[in-house]
Amino acid sequence: MLGSVNESANWRDLIVALDDRHLDTLANAAAATIESLRGSPDAPRSDVSPTALRELVRAVTICPDEGGDPTTVLAEFATMVWRHGVVPSDVACVAHLHPPTLVPAVATELAIAATNQSMDSWDQSPAATEVELHLMAWLADLIGFGPTASGVMTSGGTASNLLGITLARSAAAMRSGVDVLQSGLPAEASTWRILCSDQAHFSIQRAAAQLGLGRDAVVAVASTPSGSLDVTALDEAIDRLTRAGSRVIALIATAGTTDLGAIDPMDEVAARARRLGCWFHVDAAVAGAFLLADRLRARLAGIELADSVTIDFHKLWWQPFNASALVVRDTSTFDLLRVPSDYLDRDDELEGVVNLVGRSLDTSRRFDAAKVVVTLRTLGRHALAEMLEHLVALATHAAQAVDDEPTLSLLAPPTAVMCVFDAPGASADDLRAVQQRLLVRGELVLGRTRIKGRAALKFTFMNPLTTTADVDRLVRVVTDELRAVRALPAVDGTA
Ligand SMILES: Cc1ncc(COP(=O)(O)O)c(C=O)c1O
Repeated sequence: MLGSVNESANWRDLIVALDDRHLDTLANAAAATIESLRGSPDAPRSDVSPTALRELVRAVTICPDEGGDPTTVLAEFATMVWRHGVVPSDVACVAHLHPPTLVPAVATELAIAATNQSMDSWDQSPAATEVELHLMAWLADLIGFGPTASGVMTSGGTASNLLGITLARSAAAMRSGVDVLQSGLPAEASTWRILCSDQAHFSIQRAAAQLGLGRDAVVAVASTPSGSLDVTALDEAIDRLTRAGSRVIALIATAGTTDLGAIDPMDEVAARARRLGCWFHVDAAVAGAFLLADRLRARLAGIELADSVTIDFHKLWWQPFNASALVVRDTSTFDLLRVPSDYLDRDDELEGVVNLVGRSLDTSRRFDAAKVVVTLRTLGRHALAEMLEHLVALATHAAQAVDDEPTLSLLAPPTAVMCVFDAPGASADDLRAVQQRLLVRGELVLGRTRIKGRAALKFTFMNPLTTTADVDRLVRVVTDELRAVRALPAVDGTA
């Protein structure tokens, strides 16, 4: 027999209930959590090696039979984890599109968790559903879509791209009279192709793979030296594929590529999509935030011609993970996804009820829209635009500093917040050594990538508190390290 009903156990205090007693317990725990962050490293990361870190973490019992005092548990967690984490708010943390977060968003995370609305059905998130819909309508309007547009929050750019390409695939099948949700891919799907630039994010290929089209269905079209899709190469690819009997089901433009921040010519791509009668998806995970800034928005001309757009709030909108959106020009296209269920997504709801599960690849889902709305209302568009413009200006400053430094060479002028460079005469191994040595010493978390086969290092500026003096220092740190690496004896002992 199970144990008896227990109405006095101490776990009763640990349930988050929205009454004063429980909220006081939560406030104390939140204060202790904030306290536990105070010892975070004054560097982009600690200098503990990967193997030492594993030992430190593995020494901890995940679930002891008897729990401990929360303050002690949090303090241990701080010593073990926060002290050895990466610090996105450190100005030397410049590897990835990994932002520091904003106070209103982080504070709202607590309310998101405490209230635990679930976005799949209205009866689990009545006001939250309306907030998400309101945010999506605002975002659709910002993109320049008409009144039939809407969207859904997802866990990230990868998920938003998967959702957009899922819709593209279903729409293509529907045009051939096939309900792909019901009967799977038709035989002709082996001829379906998705075109994007060779700088598009790998999640496009992964989506094609997951959707049963295979990575080979994605045709990477050459990009210009600045990293944006080459329209002549696109026309050649379309021509070649159609003559070979393939069917182009989607064209994808990237607004802000991961490395160079390049923005594809969206109106040109849209015109081709219209001519082909295919889906046009824009991956604006990176540069979607430019819509907020009067001085940057013109760079996104043509985005309003898309069928679907990916926007990542957890990049240049400084939201904690997870926060992304897939916005569609026509809300009814979400019907291509819908699998009704008797307990959740029913056809006999009260008037006005929307169950967002019908638009999403998830079922249970967080109310991430809340932190975005609280952030937008707290900072306002002008402050967010200034922060963005500052980061774009920093990337331009870094490009100039790299240009002025004879040991470094810029790969392309920045269009967004990244600056990508290599070093004439330095091998890919030298660049790897620079990045890894700085990482392991905890001095600089630097990006390392390849652009069209060319090894390169990368600054990605996400922290608006960074100054031009910081950027100059980062360039110096890299050049000093490069000098140190080149002075090392070669592995075979010949230098
Ligand atoms: C252009 C682009 N699209 C999509 C993604 C994937 O975003 P996420 O990491 O949020 O899944 C990234 C990630 O950096 C990206 O740069």
